[in-house]
Amino acid sequence: MNRRNFLYSLPAISASGVVSVSQNQSLSNVQAIATWDNQSALQGCDQVLTQNGYALDAVEAGVRVAESNPDDLSVGYGGLPDATGKISLDACVMNELLRCGSVSYVRGYAHPVSIARGVMEFTDHVMLVGDGAEAFAKKKGYERRKLETKASKQAHKEWKKGASSNNHDTIGMLALDRQDRLCGACSTSGRAFKLPGRVGDSPIIGAGLYVDGKVGAAAATGMGEQVLTTLGCFHIVELMRQGSNPQAACELAVNRIIEAFPKSADQVAFIALSRRGEAGMHARYEGFKVTILEAGHIRVIDASHTQ
Ligand code: GLY
Repeated sequence: MNRRNFLYSLPAISASGVVSVSQNQSLSNVQAIATWDNQSALQGCDQVLTQNGYALDAVEAGVRVAESNPDDLSVGYGGLPDATGKISLDACVMNELLRCGSVSYVRGYAHPVSIARGVMEFTDHVMLVGDGAEAFAKKKGYERRKLETKASKQAHKEWKKGASSNNHDTIGMLALDRQDRLCGACSTSGRAFKLPGRVGDSPIIGAGLYVDGKVGAAAATGMGEQVLTTLGCFHIVELMRQGSNPQAACELAVNRIIEAFPKSADQVAFIALSRRGEAGMHARYEGFKVTILEAGHIRVIDASHTQ
């Protein structure tokens, strides 16, 4: 059912007073949603959901597909490296009960999303970084992998020669299972050619991902520094708690970023899913695509944008 519904009539107002909701619509009957054209990743998620599986297993399975895809230059294997040519990965997960796990600056492991889940399930911490995250992954036996590919090495060479790069397409995935459990995950290699040690929004709970199983969930993609500055995903879920529909909430979060960074040319975008299966998606600039699973069908749609 590909219909758009007008779900709420009340405009949502951001804390800064900006009311700039261009659409105020949400998609309904959405079971899962992912940033960008991530059809095979969402198929991985769907396989778990159709077997009556847990939404956390579904988003983990889906994100692992993207992490294994060398053609995805911003996630996992074959992601673009930092300024020194090394690939470091960030990921996090969050479940319907506000439990979460996160890793950042992980090198040499295939599936940071699973390590993040391990942090949630096997420790009483939320986040592990760098050497500590890798020591944890080693102890738990997570799959090691050399992450660099010919293409990622070549891209680094070209960047060193002066080529510019604006590659930025974190995978964020949100899913609602048949028992109405809402969970999310995200994974990225971060900004291409970043300073070594740079951490973006994706592994930060509230910035790149936030889930409140009683309300809704949101995930971000794009310029992590801007999402970090505004804690975009927490902002979206709180707007939803106050009555905004997911579409309106995404638009307000993007507009908050525009207020904070008015001259930026960087893309930033959000997806959101309510606990009732209503989805929203919005970007600062044209070009943001979203993959959705609704009534068992996967399709890619263009998100709305503010500028
Ligand atoms: N949004 C991913 C990052 O900036 O690292």
